[in-house]
Amino acid sequence: MTPEEEEAIRREFEASRKEAHKQERPQQSQGPDGFELNMFSQVKHVIGIVSGKGGVGKSLVTGILATELMRAGKSVGILDADITGPSIPKMFGISSQRIAAMDEHLLVPAVTDGGIKVVSTNLILEHESDPVLWRGPLLMGVIKQFYEDVYWGELDYLLVDMPPGTGDVALTVFQSLPIEGVIIVSSPQDLVQMIVGKAVNMAAMMEVPVIGLVENMSYFVCPSCGEKHELFGPSAAQETADHFGINMLGRLPIDPAIAKVCDAGTIERHLPAHLLDGALEAITGRDA
Ligand SMILES: Nc1ncnc2c1ncn2[C@@H]1O[C@H](COP(=O)(O)OP(=O)(O)O)[C@@H](O)[C@H]1O
Ligand SMILES: [Mg+2]
Repeated sequence: MTPEEEEAIRREFEASRKEAHKQERPQQSQGPDGFELNMFSQVKHVIGIVSGKGGVGKSLVTGILATELMRAGKSVGILDADITGPSIPKMFGISSQRIAAMDEHLLVPAVTDGGIKVVSTNLILEHESDPVLWRGPLLMGVIKQFYEDVYWGELDYLLVDMPPGTGDVALTVFQSLPIEGVIIVSSPQDLVQMIVGKAVNMAAMMEVPVIGLVENMSYFVCPSCGEKHELFGPSAAQETADHFGINMLGRLPIDPAIAKVCDAGTIERHLPAHLLDGALEAITGRDA
């Protein structure tokens, strides 16, 4: 990131913070109408996975949580709202599946080996590598269809892998889906506080509770000496969470084995257990 870009983000952050304080609780009526599920679908909890910027591991965290919830016997769906950069299908090895139209109004999601239902733009494109060159209104229409027109059936959890940042699509998801809470994902590089702050402020402005923070790529365990190295310096995640008054839910190491199962599409079968127990408890604890 150049100093100019850094300065631009800093200014934007300050402006959004001021705006958040000024507005306190913005009117929900400003947004589009709430989206509604079809009569064949019931979802108990809709949870968003967000980050202030791309490439921090949002999709990975979505994939891990979905896998662990499924392993715990919950019925799970993933709405891949990262329309222009979808990565969920590959992680679950379902890239060759296509979302089918059941009739004029109902779409059948792809289903993973473990039974997780998935919708993603990659599952409607002819070729996985086709770029998505759609403008805002169309993107928002896709989110609406992915929520309203999909035959989700009965789900305990619908995880929404949000697009990075605070653009149109993220706004639509926040304003139109009944998001019960969001998990913020960060990585331990510079500007963590500012980038997490963006996500925290957006959630506050949209009146969506923050479930907590997960830090990805937090450290590396050396395979030969077993020592834990914090490659980007000491983690500021706990401090950041404290600063914003949100819960610290866990830290994920940089682990080539994790990258490998994601690349191979075998996350459900080969993901090591207990990677994100804190986040999992925070989610399932909401059932009580
Ligand atoms: N903790 C990790 N260890 C190893 N590889 C990781 C880790 N987190 C993410 N990656 C890899 O980094 C890339 C970006 O992660 P991804 O979850 O797609 O980010 P985002 O959804 O935030 O853009 C992916 O190829 C993923 O496999
Ligand atoms: Mg992603």
